[in-house]
Amino acid sequence: MAAPQREVPHILLVDDEHLLHTLFERLFTRHGLRLTSCYNALQALEVLKKEASSFDLVITDFKMPDMDGLELLAYIRQEHPDLQVIMITAHANVQHAVRAMQNGAIDYIPKPFSTEELVERVQAALARRREQQEVTARRSARSSRRRTKPTIEYVGAHPTIQRLKAMLPRVAANRAPVFIQGESGTGKEILARLIHQMSDRASGPFVAINCANLPRELVESHLFGHRKGAFTGAIEDMTGAFERADGGTLLLDEITEVDLAIQAKLLRVLQEQEIQKVGSTEARKIDVRVIATSNRNLSEAIAKGQFREDLYHRLSVFPLSVPPLRERMSDVPLLVDHFIKKYCELYGLPLKQVAPALMDRFMQYHWPGNVRQLENYVQRGVLLSADRTVIEVEDVFNDFFADAEPARQDAQEKEDLLSRVQTIEEMEREMILRALKETNNNQQLAAQKLGISARTIRNKLKRYREQGLIS
Ligand SMILES: Nc1ncnc2c1ncn2[C@@H]1O[C@H](COP(=O)(O)OP(=O)(O)OP(=O)(O)O)[C@@H](O)[C@H]1O
Ligand SMILES: [Mg+2]
Repeated sequence: MAAPQREVPHILLVDDEHLLHTLFERLFTRHGLRLTSCYNALQALEVLKKEASSFDLVITDFKMPDMDGLELLAYIRQEHPDLQVIMITAHANVQHAVRAMQNGAIDYIPKPFSTEELVERVQAALARRREQQEVTARRSARSSRRRTKPTIEYVGAHPTIQRLKAMLPRVAANRAPVFIQGESGTGKEILARLIHQMSDRASGPFVAINCANLPRELVESHLFGHRKGAFTGAIEDMTGAFERADGGTLLLDEITEVDLAIQAKLLRVLQEQEIQKVGSTEARKIDVRVIATSNRNLSEAIAKGQFREDLYHRLSVFPLSVPPLRERMSDVPLLVDHFIKKYCELYGLPLKQVAPALMDRFMQYHWPGNVRQLENYVQRGVLLSADRTVIEVEDVFNDFFADAEPARQDAQEKEDLLSRVQTIEEMEREMILRALKETNNNQQLAAQKLGISARTIRNKLKRYREQGLIS
């Protein structure tokens, strides 16, 4: 099996300096590299949880508020061991550099650095990754029966989850497509991984691809691959997701986001079990089990003519539905325990508990972001409670709930706010804009209210303006 190839290497930058984002962006674009930037580690976690497989390299600052580069590194080593990390450290701080390397960073770049030096090190890291992938691919082709993967812990005892779990052995034993419907963050991907792991393809690859994130012109290449010269810009052969998943499982996330022409091709691939690369006349047999997900209401999409009904029927031999967290609240304590254990172990902390008041809050909350949001909150609580063994309400809800006891109407507004927004970035933006509104645009006061610096507010506003989010 060939190592996964990507058109353009994708790099995640984690640094709180806005300037660095701009600099990296310009520099990397010029060198044919793609960049996604985050301002802090918590944001990076969110991005990685959603699409770690789309990155080739992470470059992170050492010193950051809330969660520093070392903690982020620990997380990546545990959850995404294939992902390489380069740490940016202060020039004078040799200990930081040493600790970064001891903890699994592959390189460090002392500040200040020249642009050539940076590009050189990044290229070296990318080359090393390609080599590694080739070795792993050869090794796994040789000993495809050995199984060393960690077992997935899928938590839940609510009757609907129990029913879901009960169906899994039958689903896993089959190779027919699976369709998983559920709101964002309900656990569709972990379920897909579990099905893969329980199946006889467990030692084969598990490839996840998010259809909503693919550049429109390249969807077909990403799915089926293309031949060099198939179109302008196809400068090299590209291996598609189906080919990479050969002998294993392919997760097609947000399947409803591909357009009708591609849907027709997908249908054919599922029927014939063979693919044709863009620009090739040859068909190639593949052995892939497809699991598709969507957080949209599919019958609506079908009724509107946005999704082919025949593809839906082909995909949903096993239609599974994961309920939103608010419909299985009895699982909240189990999930909280599970995530506390996960993050305390990850950060090498003694096991913690949540304060009863915090558990009450959790039990009353309606979880618009579902299990992912709960996991983020617990992770945040574990980190912010520092050396205390009890996680308090303030450790989790501090930024989002500026007042200790908000008035009813205020509380309602904030609930609405939280149900509208999904990512930490959006929450942050909403909080900043709200604080400014409440203080008649006094940046100093708004900063005080939020416990951040006025400089940060200025920087953020500039960014929102650049992104066209405010005028
Ligand atoms: N039942 C569960 N037990 C343990 N962890 C879970 C469970 N459900 C979800 N999680 C965790 O919650 C996070 C979100 O789950 P996942 O990524 O599978 O959601 P998703 O439905 O694919 O979300 P999206 O629609 O945004 O892609 C993951 O870190 C996952 O491991
Ligand atoms: Mg997902």
